[in-house]
Amino acid sequence: MDRILRFKVVSSTQDVARRFIPRRTELAVIALQQRKGRGRHRRPWHSPAGGLYLSLLLFPGSTAQLLPLVAAVGVIRALERSRVRGLHILWPNDILVGDKKICGILAEQHQDAVVCGIGINVNIKRFPAGMEHVTSLWLEFGRKFAIPALGDSVLREIETVYSRARAGKFLPSDASRYITGIGEPATIMTQRGSVAGTVFGIDDDWALLLRDEAGVIRRYTYGQVRRMQW
Ligand code: BTN
Repeated sequence: MDRILRFKVVSSTQDVARRFIPRRTELAVIALQQRKGRGRHRRPWHSPAGGLYLSLLLFPGSTAQLLPLVAAVGVIRALERSRVRGLHILWPNDILVGDKKICGILAEQHQDAVVCGIGINVNIKRFPAGMEHVTSLWLEFGRKFAIPALGDSVLREIETVYSRARAGKFLPSDASRYITGIGEPATIMTQRGSVAGTVFGIDDDWALLLRDEAGVIRRYTYGQVRRMQW
């Protein structure tokens, strides 16, 4: 990463990173709090102090589609280095512990630039009503994490996975071992409706494969899948 910009509070790290697109340099923006954090589908992202909020401005070429998984694998590896176990990817964008979300990933494309945002619930001790499906490292693992050090470690791990991806060396098997629910029933929601079936992996072109209830194998690419429920 050419530059890392660190803030205590910002509106959204996505917007700060986006402003640097005209300079054409890859950089990271890290904040300890956001006033207007956003998630996918225009949902707000709960961003109090105690979380880690990070956006990467990248010019990824043909690896653009892989960025959510690159980021997810990088986050999991960084957390594994901090002795956190039992994390898995809800394909393609969320990281869960059990069935609760601990990290969300948002990739926003602006021509050839992608701003990839990552929100990790680190030391957050409680969530407002209505967020029962969400958890934090503190709540799950009962200890406090050093947020700046964790931010640096997440960046390092993502950079490693990203350079492998750019070199064509990030393979579906590198991600699929972290993906939850292979062999289990799932519903995939797309803009055209939802399909129930059994997930059985990722193919060589990174499409998710689902066997539907009639036994037909369907391929889903990133653009199509909005959400998967187990
Ligand atoms: C989601 O699960 O809906 C994606 C959440 C992405 C949140 C992160 S926090 C850092 C970056 N800045 C934002 O405003 N959003 C992303």
